[in-house]
Amino acid sequence: MGITIEPLTESFAARIGGVDLAGGVDDTDFAAIRRAFEEHGILIFHDQPLTDEEQIAFSERFGPLERTISASPTGGTPFARQSNIDIQSGGIIDKQDRRMEYQRGNYLWHADSTFKETPSLCSILSAREVPPVGGATEFVSTRAAHEGLPPERQAELDDLVVEHDLLHSRREIGFHFTAEEAAQTPPVRHPLVQINPVTGRKSLMIGAHASHIVGWPVETGRALLTELLDRATQPEAVYRHEWRTGDLIIWDNRSALHRATPYDTSKHRRLMQRTTISNPNAPRV
Ligand code: OGA
Ligand code: MN
Repeated sequence: MGITIEPLTESFAARIGGVDLAGGVDDTDFAAIRRAFEEHGILIFHDQPLTDEEQIAFSERFGPLERTISASPTGGTPFARQSNIDIQSGGIIDKQDRRMEYQRGNYLWHADSTFKETPSLCSILSAREVPPVGGATEFVSTRAAHEGLPPERQAELDDLVVEHDLLHSRREIGFHFTAEEAAQTPPVRHPLVQINPVTGRKSLMIGAHASHIVGWPVETGRALLTELLDRATQPEAVYRHEWRTGDLIIWDNRSALHRATPYDTSKHRRLMQRTTISNPNAPRV
């Protein structure tokens, strides 16, 4: 049986079947996955338990992997862990711990690594341990948001440049960086409108790290970014994923936003391992 691709909403997200990621994916199947990724933006796989090595090997087929910044618990490795479990002890991390505070940033709608000079192509999140209730992840498409705008509004956005800043998004949740950490992530600039090089379809690079529009008064730019974000994340546009252990999701950081939802972190264990693929070919401003 070959790969199956089942669209999950009218405009984005698809469930992929008929493939065993751990066993190795041949070039034909990988080409089908890659094409589906460009078309659907979010790919959901079930029953794909992976070791760290297998996740890295599969992820590297999409491009070079990011290393996580040092403020994160997995600093320096290719993994970002969304987890309440201490790597060393295996025990549950206290709610007040800085590592848990940092993860609260995930409750804001965002795309990963838009605050980096070289932004991300996609993220791959592997569910290793899943709480019995809560901890779903929600997704929206900024391609659908862009395509839903009237043509004259689309034209107004075409040449705008957005400043993205990790300090901006973390400030919103009251998380403070040390001066040394802050110095590692200076603000960066990206085109607001992204054009998919394969499909030619446009999307919006917005989300929590998007601070303001370059050349506009900060508050005016922020108001536009908020308006676009509110449009993109209307409840009826959301695809919500309730995780099962062994699920794996690939999302396009150029055309989708995601956010975590709460679970009882003092009671239930959650361990999600993310690899992040960078996009050295991203357009520069
Ligand atoms: C991420 C992320 C959300 C979640 O891994 O980048 O935002 O539900 N995860 O863990
Ligand atoms: Mn994220």
